[in-house]
Amino acid sequence: MPQSIRAHAIRIHENGGPEVLRFEEVEVPPPGPGEVRLRHTAIGLNYADVNLRRGTFYLHTKLALPAIIGNEGAGVIESVGPGVAALKPGDRVVYVAPSGMAAQPGAYSEMRVIEAERLVRIPDGVSDEQAAAALLKGLTAWCIVRRVFPVKPGHSVLVHAAAGGVSSFLVQWAKHLGAMVIGTVGSAEKERTARALGCDHVIRYRDVDWVAAVNAIVPGGVSAVFDGVGKDVFLASLDCLSGFGTLVNFGNASGAPPPLDIRPLAHRGAQMVTRIGMGFFFYERATLDEATAELFGLIAQGVLTPNVTQRYALRDAAQAHRDLEERRTTGSVVLVP
Ligand SMILES: NC(=O)c1ccc[n+]([C@@H]2O[C@H](COP(=O)([O-])OP(=O)(O)OC[C@H]3O[C@@H](n4cnc5c(N)ncnc54)[C@H](OP(=O)(O)O)[C@@H]3O)[C@@H](O)[C@H]2O)c1
Repeated sequence: MPQSIRAHAIRIHENGGPEVLRFEEVEVPPPGPGEVRLRHTAIGLNYADVNLRRGTFYLHTKLALPAIIGNEGAGVIESVGPGVAALKPGDRVVYVAPSGMAAQPGAYSEMRVIEAERLVRIPDGVSDEQAAAALLKGLTAWCIVRRVFPVKPGHSVLVHAAAGGVSSFLVQWAKHLGAMVIGTVGSAEKERTARALGCDHVIRYRDVDWVAAVNAIVPGGVSAVFDGVGKDVFLASLDCLSGFGTLVNFGNASGAPPPLDIRPLAHRGAQMVTRIGMGFFFYERATLDEATAELFGLIAQGVLTPNVTQRYALRDAAQAHRDLEERRTTGSVVLVP
């Protein structure tokens, strides 16, 4: 029978800046019924981790503290609890932690216990690091380009912060589905990254009138805007969206989007605006299986490339957060336990 063991984790005891991330020893219990104990090999860094740390992630409920943060991890199963038949020690798996509730996210750890039902097998040919770089961000992109605004040939799409984690997948996936893609980015280096990902046009949105630039490329406005930036671009995005286009907001890296008066949405037709929460799409296992098969299938074909640009030791998570918040990252970043 497996016993409790000690392992290191990044915990927060209070909300705040990167300095509240503490590298501590914690007890990891044996897996209970339906659970496995997992040794992490790669942990995905996500903006949600910053929001969790700051205390701005949950609007309706509070995360119980102290808490191990982190929403995405890959690793090797160390032991399985009673009733787990489909997985065994040695299997390589990846997961997105439960969100939208006060459960412990728990990914910033060397080892953890997690429900077997949440785990996805990592296919041969995909490394643990690629899986941790791809799952949460790729599934978020799947929600947007396959469900909320199914991208088709002939569409024109504007992707904000196009060199970022989720957006890297959005650009590649929207191109694959036949869209013309315009990306906005914050620097010359990110412009090169966005072009390499497949953007047809790249706009340095901090340096130019990006609304005018988009309208010059697509008079009448784009079919859709995918926005993980929020406050700084949300309302203005409607001014370069077609009269019947869709604005999909999925994040607020620059701050909360301002309240929206819906009346102007009718000024050129019937613009649609939505905000997604990716976790809710995957409550049914069948949907998770469908989306992960598609995601990993496209990775295997070379259509989608998880772009791991930076790695940090788990104990250096605070520096990784600083770099993410200060816009110094591109693509996917992983923490290595
Ligand atoms: N709704 C969901 O289910 C869901 C799921 C996953 C992620 N998200 C959200 O999606 C967004 C992107 O997440 P990610 O992990 O892929 O991060 P990311 O895009 O890799 O990083 C954030 C990027 O946003 C841009 N940005 C613009 N203004 C910023 C500001 N004031 N501070 C910091 N960054 C700013 C920066 O790019 P530039 O330098 O190019 O401006 C920065 O690199 C986040 O808001 C995240 O919370 C939501």
